[in-house]
Amino acid sequence: MMRLGVLASGSGSNLQAILDACAQGRIAAKVSAMICNVPGARALERAKAANVPAILLPHGAHPLREEYDARLVEELRRHDVNLVCLAGFMRIVTPVLLRAFPERVLNIHPSLLPAFPGMHAVRQALAAGVRISGCTVHLVDEGTDSGPIVVQAAVPVLDGDSEETLAARILVQEHRAYPRAIDLVASGRATAAGRKVSVRATVGDPARTIASPPLDDG
Ligand code: GRF
Repeated sequence: MMRLGVLASGSGSNLQAILDACAQGRIAAKVSAMICNVPGARALERAKAANVPAILLPHGAHPLREEYDARLVEELRRHDVNLVCLAGFMRIVTPVLLRAFPERVLNIHPSLLPAFPGMHAVRQALAAGVRISGCTVHLVDEGTDSGPIVVQAAVPVLDGDSEETLAARILVQEHRAYPRAIDLVASGRATAAGRKVSVRATVGDPARTIASPPLDDG
């Protein structure tokens, strides 16, 4: 069974979605450790409530990113982690982490990448006037939100949306997309070849479309 290490900095709602999916047997994995860099973050409480080791590793003590990542690797190895999931982890990771877990670090980002990488993705999408946005789960490479894409889910942008309302609509899909992506990677059905991830999974109706506004009403 795949042993997950989840890294979070904040509320941890994606962590919760992953914990729930594991508990309900929807993914053949268990969360072996949760590491958080922010004291008092709700993610720590969520891990404890699920009886998962909750490790607080504030980054302040390690001014060099590489040094901090070496500590992360140490903790992840100590818990025999073999798939790392960044879930609202507000730190740029370095090759120190990526080389320790090659093609085994996932991230979730609240936009349809490659659009709107980096900070304030939802704000960027609203400012650009897109009609559809969403979330992306991708393998992490050395760039910012630039690694091979595993799963994306789209939501409409509605007239009158604020950053908060759009972020909340996207977050609902994040909670579905992340467990799905972990399942695909953990079961070996998603494999990366260069920039592309090929997925052996049910395709569904390829003609099904999401459009905003809908294409077929007045
Ligand atoms: C999510 O929107 C995620 O895409 C972004 O940070 C947020 C984390 O939320 N990177 P949570 O801590 O999982 O609730």
